[in-house]
Amino acid sequence: MSGAGAVLSRQLAGRVAIVTGGASGIGKGICRVLAARGAMVAVVDLDGEAAGATAEEISAGEARAAHFQADVTDRASLDDVVGQVVDLYGHIDICVANAGVIAGPGFTERRDYTDDDWDATQSINLRGVVSTNDAVKAHMIERGAGRIINIASHSGRTPRGAPGSLGDIQIPYSVSKAGVIQWTMHLALQLGQHGITANAVCPGTLWTPMWERIANMRKRFDESVRDLSPREIFDRHIGLNVPLGRPQTPEDIGNAVAFLASDDARVITGQALNVNGGAMMN
Ligand SMILES: NC(=O)c1ccc[n+]([C@@H]2O[C@H](COP(=O)([O-])OP(=O)(O)OC[C@H]3O[C@@H](n4cnc5c(N)ncnc54)[C@H](O)[C@@H]3O)[C@@H](O)[C@H]2O)c1
Repeated sequence: MSGAGAVLSRQLAGRVAIVTGGASGIGKGICRVLAARGAMVAVVDLDGEAAGATAEEISAGEARAAHFQADVTDRASLDDVVGQVVDLYGHIDICVANAGVIAGPGFTERRDYTDDDWDATQSINLRGVVSTNDAVKAHMIERGAGRIINIASHSGRTPRGAPGSLGDIQIPYSVSKAGVIQWTMHLALQLGQHGITANAVCPGTLWTPMWERIANMRKRFDESVRDLSPREIFDRHIGLNVPLGRPQTPEDIGNAVAFLASDDARVITGQALNVNGGAMMN
């Protein structure tokens, strides 16, 4: 590699990143991109075994990664991970709060939300992000530097779907993601004076285990797609909703995160960046 490509590949050399939900889907893509650009990556997930597999895959090349089991709804487990990462790598430069769920357990079998859906989305998607950020904040303030990047969703920006449509089960999710965007802006206000930026990335539609569950739910309740496979339901959704006509990949989201974590983004804070093929424009 030469020229700009080589510079880009070392863009995050020496930086340490912590990524929650790093064992699967988007989080895994973020870990791969950050590691490929030179960062040492702490892969944090509820599923410790899968986090280990991701860390091993990343470490197979030149890059360095370690894995940690933690539940983002348990602040003590996040404090513990932050302490271990600092012990291992010396510091933390980048915090990516990505862990999230679409709804509560068993949601594919119902079309209307329940208390479980509100509890799961608020405690994991919103409070989990707040706790993850709070767990690294003191360390970053002490260093006078840091990049916080929270994974929201474009569904957190504006409501979609007619009342009573299939979208109802996703309302608690969308509200939790709107909360993540609002929280991130507050964080940017709070932490700017310490040289720390805080931004959100709003992915659009990606074929991950999360979207596969959504497709299964649609297959059950939407007669117009009953004969399609989950992947065909996803592809149809892309064709109908995405101007660029293609889904995003976990690496597309990783590229946006890497940009926000890089020196190129040093004066960007309090923003929410859509990475969605133009599916929603704001
Ligand atoms: N897939 C999409 O189309 C899409 C679109 C917009 C936003 N997002 C957001 O991107 C993020 C990742 O989604 P994904 O599609 O990769 O989902 P995924 O289900 O593939 O991965 C989520 C990961 O989070 C982990 N996790 C769940 N609960 C946790 C907890 N309490 N503590 C720690 N880890 C936990 C899971 O074990 C899993 O590894 C989520 O915040 C999601 O809302 C996804």
